[in-house]
Amino acid sequence: MKFFVDTADTAAIAELNELGMVDGVTTNPSLIHKSGRDIKEVIAEISAMVDGPVSAETVATDYETMVKEGHEVAKLGDNIAIKVPLTWDGLRACKHLSGEGHMVNVTLCFSTNQALLAAKAGATFISPFIGRLDDLNLDGMDLIADIRDVYDNYGFETQILAASIRSANHMSDAAKIGADVATAPPGVIKKMAEHVLTDKGLDAFLSDWAKTGQSIL
Ligand code: E4P
Repeated sequence: MKFFVDTADTAAIAELNELGMVDGVTTNPSLIHKSGRDIKEVIAEISAMVDGPVSAETVATDYETMVKEGHEVAKLGDNIAIKVPLTWDGLRACKHLSGEGHMVNVTLCFSTNQALLAAKAGATFISPFIGRLDDLNLDGMDLIADIRDVYDNYGFETQILAASIRSANHMSDAAKIGADVATAPPGVIKKMAEHVLTDKGLDAFLSDWAKTGQSIL
């Protein structure tokens, strides 16, 4: 499973990128707002930092303006995935932009039918939002599994990009189901390294090591 980092925080991206944990980056208008930076400046900077796809989201709701915005953000780097919402106009923009050869990430997906439409419209990525479904007492991971089944039934090449990930368990569950990509905040990716038994075991080893009075260096 590829790891995308869900942030516009360039310092956090750089830290994970050094470890080879960044296969791409996703942003959205809320994350741009949180960064406090100009969208064009920050997307261009991220695009130059990472090799993989960098999603930049359009904000228009009508097809024509969405396509114009898509062309504009695509100029910010050679690895830009244009992000459009899963609306009818968004699907039209997806069809148009993917037909021109752009990578397109169709976002705000909450149903298998929406994912089917995005694949038919030529999406490179479909972004089903796990956490926001869980917030409503629905099971976001069920949606990932259903889309996996449907895409595999028909050989759709659209990549399932599990989004709105809130926990390390979401990452492993998405990987078990076979999501192609998961995008998570930097803190969630770092949390994946944690285990209470690792901490406990390390404490015990260090305590015994201190008793030996030895030093490796
Ligand atoms: C990524 O592409 C999405 O915009 C993001 O994962 C949404 O996450 P949230 O539901 O935590 O805001």
